[in-house]
Amino acid sequence: MEPILLIHGGAGNIPDARVPGKISGCKRSLRMGYDVLKNGGTALDAVEAAVRYMEDDENFNAGYGSVLNLDGEVEMDASIMVGSTLSAGAVTVVRDIKNPISLARLVMEKTPHVLLAGAGANKFASENGVPTVAPGSLVTQAAREALENFKKKGGKLTEIGHKNPGDVGTVGAVALDKNGNLAAATSTGGINGKMVGRSSDTCIIGSGTYADDEVAAISTTGHGETIAKFCLASSIIREIMHGQTAQEATKDVLEKMTARLKNTAGAITLDKEGKVGVFFTSEKMAWAYRKTNEIHYGIYPDQHETEEAQDDE
Ligand code: GLY
Ligand code: GLY
Repeated sequence: MEPILLIHGGAGNIPDARVPGKISGCKRSLRMGYDVLKNGGTALDAVEAAVRYMEDDENFNAGYGSVLNLDGEVEMDASIMVGSTLSAGAVTVVRDIKNPISLARLVMEKTPHVLLAGAGANKFASENGVPTVAPGSLVTQAAREALENFKKKGGKLTEIGHKNPGDVGTVGAVALDKNGNLAAATSTGGINGKMVGRSSDTCIIGSGTYADDEVAAISTTGHGETIAKFCLASSIIREIMHGQTAQEATKDVLEKMTARLKNTAGAITLDKEGKVGVFFTSEKMAWAYRKTNEIHYGIYPDQHETEEAQDDE
C-alpha cells in the first residue's frame, strides 16, 4: 500500500497575516509525519508526530499557542484513534501539558478508559512521566491579544453564526500506512473566550476524530459545539459506508451541517484505499497531504497547490 499523510492546521476566520505561518507550519508537520511512514512506521506514529509538531508551533491553536479561556488560561483537548482495533484515547481540559496528543495516546494504551478530564488527566500525566511545563508557559502574546480583543468587543460567544477572529484553528492528521492501517489524531486549545472548563468536539470520538480500517479516518476542525451536535466525523463515515467517495461525503455532510446549524467547520478524510477528502464551510482551512513525492496544500476555498517534496533540504 502506498502510504499517505493528510493534515489540517485548523479552520475558521483566520486573519490573512497568519496564512504564511500556517502554510509553512503545515508543510513542516507533513514532513515530520511522512518521514515516519516513509521509514516503514505506523499510521499511529505518523499522526502523533505530525500533530506534536503543530502543538509545538505557535502558529496553531494547540499546545503552545492555544487560545485562552475567559480567565486567560490554556485548557486543551486531544484525541487519537487506531483503525485496526477501534482503540481510542482522549483528554479534555488539561493544563500545562506540552503535547496533549501524546497524553491521549497514553490514555488509549495504558488505561481501561477512552477519555480522561482535567485534574485526573494531569495526575495520570505526571504518574507516567509526560512532560508538563510551568503554568502559563503555553500562553503566547498573540493569544493574550486575541482574548483582549474579544473582551473589548463585548466578550460574548454566539451559539449561532459563530465568527471569532481569535479562533485560529485546531490541528489534526489522518494517515494510511504501508500495511493498510488507518489512524487519526486531533488536538486543540478550543475557542477564544470559552468558559473555564469547556470541553470541545476535539476530545469526542465520532465528532472530532474517527478511524476505522474498514471505512476511513477523519479529523475535524471548526465550531466545536456544532461539530459535536452533528457528530461530524461519524456522519462522514456513515456516508462513505453508504457509497459516497471520501470527497463527496466530506463535502456533503459539512454543507448539510452548516445549512442546519448555521455555523462552519472543516474536515479531512482518508479512506481505506487512500482516497482523500478535504472540505470546509469556514472562510479558510489550512490543509496539506503527501503521497509518494507529491505535496498538495491549500488554505483558501478552491485553492489546491501541488509541489514536489524536497527530502534532502
Ligand atoms: N475554533 C477552533 C477550531 O478552529 O477548530
Ligand atoms: N473544534 C475545536 C473547538 O471548537 O474547540
